[in-house]
Amino acid sequence: MKFFIDTANLEQIKEAASVGILDGVTTNPTLISREQGTPKEIYKAICEIVDGPVSAEAIALDWEGMVKEGRELAAIHPNIVVKIPMTKDGLKAVKMLASEGIKTNVTLIFSPIQALLAARAGASFVSPFVGRLDDIATPGMELVQQIQQIFANYQLETEVIVASIRHPMHVVDAAMIGADIATIPFKVIEQMMKHPLTDIGITNFLNDWKKVENRK
Ligand code: E4P
Repeated sequence: MKFFIDTANLEQIKEAASVGILDGVTTNPTLISREQGTPKEIYKAICEIVDGPVSAEAIALDWEGMVKEGRELAAIHPNIVVKIPMTKDGLKAVKMLASEGIKTNVTLIFSPIQALLAARAGASFVSPFVGRLDDIATPGMELVQQIQQIFANYQLETEVIVASIRHPMHVVDAAMIGADIATIPFKVIEQMMKHPLTDIGITNFLNDWKKVENRK
């Protein structure tokens, strides 16, 4: 499974990239609003840090507007993927952008049939939001399972990005299902690396080493 980071914060992206396991970045208008600079400056800077897909969201709601914005976003850097919300106009825009070779990530997916429609329209990625479903007492991972099964049934090449991840168990579940990608907040990436038994083990080894280090 590939790891994307779900943030527009350059320091977090640099830190995660320095570990060497970062495959891409997803942003959204909320994440961009928390940072300084114009959206274009932020997208450019992200593309200079990470050599992989960087999702940048179109704001227009009509398909012509989305296509225009999509072309502008795609011109920023070859790694930009245009994020399009899952609506009827969104599907039209995805179809048009795909015909021009522009990659899209259809976002705010909450049902398997939305994912199938997006894939059929030519989306490169779909983003089911697991955390937001869990928040309303609906199992988000069941949606991922259904999408994976449907895409496998028809050998669809659209990749599944498990999004709206809240904790490391979401990442474990995504990997058990065989999802292509998990897009993970920085805090959760840090949590994933930690285990109390690892910390205790390191402390004990270092303490024991002190007993032997002065031996001649
Ligand atoms: C995905 O691309 C979205 O940016 C993100 O995962 C949304 O997560 P949230 O539900 O924590 O806002």
